[in-house]
Amino acid sequence: MIIKKIKAWRIRDSRGEPTIEVMVKSDNGKFYASAPSGASKGKKEVMAFPKEGVQKSVDFVNKILRKELYGYKINKFDDLNKIEKIIEKYDKTENFSNIGGNVVVALEYALLRALAKGQVWSFLNTNAKQLPRPLGNCIGGGMHVTGGEKTDFQEFLLLSLNATDIAIAIYANYKIWKLVGKELGKPKKTDEGAWAPNLSTEKILDILNKVAKKVSEELKFEIKVGIDMAASHLFNGKQYVYKNKRLSKKEQIKYVIGLINKYNLVYVEDPLEEDDMKGFAEITKAVKNKCLITGDDLVCTNPKILKNAIKSKAINALIVKPNQIGSLIKVKEVIELCKKNHINTIISHRSGETMDTMISHLAVGFNIPIIKTGIYGKEREIKLIELQNIEKQIK
Ligand code: PGA
Ligand code: ZN
Repeated sequence: MIIKKIKAWRIRDSRGEPTIEVMVKSDNGKFYASAPSGASKGKKEVMAFPKEGVQKSVDFVNKILRKELYGYKINKFDDLNKIEKIIEKYDKTENFSNIGGNVVVALEYALLRALAKGQVWSFLNTNAKQLPRPLGNCIGGGMHVTGGEKTDFQEFLLLSLNATDIAIAIYANYKIWKLVGKELGKPKKTDEGAWAPNLSTEKILDILNKVAKKVSEELKFEIKVGIDMAASHLFNGKQYVYKNKRLSKKEQIKYVIGLINKYNLVYVEDPLEEDDMKGFAEITKAVKNKCLITGDDLVCTNPKILKNAIKSKAINALIVKPNQIGSLIKVKEVIELCKKNHINTIISHRSGETMDTMISHLAVGFNIPIIKTGIYGKEREIKLIELQNIEKQIK
């Protein structure tokens, strides 16, 4: 494929914040892509945009990359490596603070779409058969609610691993979200479309388990509950600070294991602050394979950090967010490392999302078992709809 033109501009994400959209014109046609932004970021993530703002990233594409990539040829996924080398030559920083990792993400998504003529999942793997199961955000707080009283943990999630197909799993999450909303008296919503009540963790887990059980019985498969504690944002350097208590590192570990056992949690993301590999390993060892102990801020989709996490046996599951690392080549490396080391992968949206559906294609093409994309809101639902479209093509 020959690149004939690239162009970038600013769009608004689901939070109303500016982000970047890129168009690639090639002999395969015109293809578009955009990149999301997080609010609850890990400190080891690359910068989505430079401190001067999104316009600097847009200008870099339109003034420099456009000329640099004119007439450039790429044919396969691994050729993206050459594109990354060119961008790195201009950025020259470890964390993309000069140009912004979102330039790479939006550009690589558009290039991949152009290479695949839109069918990215089958371009990555023509024999792909497996569709991921949706991990849906039902109730939340933390960094995804601005102001006012909120829940201690950032996300309370739903997951049905043994649903017979993706459509019924999507339906189950939506049905529970709706029933729970009614029970809570329709409070305001988080950035990701989850309900944002001001209730205790225990009360929320009781309600969620109760409603999930009812819908499970009706639909005849198990729908389980999980949480993203985003614990770095609770940690003050010494203690985990809750609305009504303060816990030491040791007490936090005991509290997490207790919650997993009491509420049969199948999924716990970032239960400890982002540097505590040893503490993660203690929890992972204690729960065995009963619960996915998932690193998000802990690893930030970084292959180097992942290798440490593997060595320390810190996790049995990993969140994959392409714009945490700003490189699709490294995203692939991370997924392969996880597969080799029996670590489950979960590809994830960000709290500030766009209408881009690339993560749905990456989930299928890279055989990722779980996708975290929220239950409600057009930027989340479009990714679930895309998965159902892909399923039709597979069948
Ligand atoms: P984000 O994080 O707000 O940075 O997208 C969500 C999460 O912690 O999973
Ligand atoms: Zn998280």
